[in-house]
Amino acid sequence: MKNDRGPIGIFDSGYGGLTILREIRKMMPQYDYLYLGDNARTPYGTRSFDVVYEFTIQAVRYLFKQGCHLVILACNTASAKALRTIQQNDLPRLAPNRRVLGVIRPTVEVIGDISKTHHVGIMATPGTVRSKTYELEIAKLFPDFKVTSEACPMWVPLVENEEYNTPGADYFVKKNIDSLLQQDPQIDSVILGCTHYPLLRDKIRQWMPDNIHVIEQGNYVAQSLKEYLSRHDDMSEHITSEGTIRFLTTEQADVFQAKAAIFMDTAVEAERVFLE
Ligand code: DGL
Repeated sequence: MKNDRGPIGIFDSGYGGLTILREIRKMMPQYDYLYLGDNARTPYGTRSFDVVYEFTIQAVRYLFKQGCHLVILACNTASAKALRTIQQNDLPRLAPNRRVLGVIRPTVEVIGDISKTHHVGIMATPGTVRSKTYELEIAKLFPDFKVTSEACPMWVPLVENEEYNTPGADYFVKKNIDSLLQQDPQIDSVILGCTHYPLLRDKIRQWMPDNIHVIEQGNYVAQSLKEYLSRHDDMSEHITSEGTIRFLTTEQADVFQAKAAIFMDTAVEAERVFLE
């Protein structure tokens, strides 16, 4: 059994998944984590289903090879476009005892307690919006909810280019919030359905009316993972617990390190890897 253990794998197209890793680690510091950012091929949000699936399964296979038994797709775009196929088609033949989980379901589960008007807004990448995954998942749990989605194609580039606090950020954040609320003025809760968006939190709060709840995913994903592991001893016994984090990136390590430090609030050391 001892050799059959490894870290929890956390995957994102770039830096966004670090907002999820931070919260998971805060809640469960005892485990080991292996973060993989496909920074060389980010963003995923504007890519087709087939391409996002292909990149994501490459990353999952890589993390499995590194010993991960549990992989979290800390990316809404990958969760929306690749998770189901991986769970249903790939896992049974690739690694029937390993698990891949996403970030959309744990986020959707909490809105029943948060929204009073039952009108919810989703702000996400064009890929996530086009997939309609949030609409489908919310309809399963809360069939009377009205869901309106707004694609925000410029928000990930703003974050990736550290433009959080510029007139450009004001322009695009205001534009998308106004557009969402014009479509449905009864919205009382907005899900930030992209793991990059917490970095724009101050700008989003500035332009969002005060009475609207802005829902970030990290804490809910962490809580849901904690509950999952407490129900699944068969999985938690495959996770090593030395409290370490390793960072892998498909881009140059020094580029990743500089930006990741902003997301993690601490220095980061990364290694470059190649996916295929
Ligand atoms: N962080 C990813 C998400 O949660 C999107 C970034 C991208 O477009 O690659 O959807």
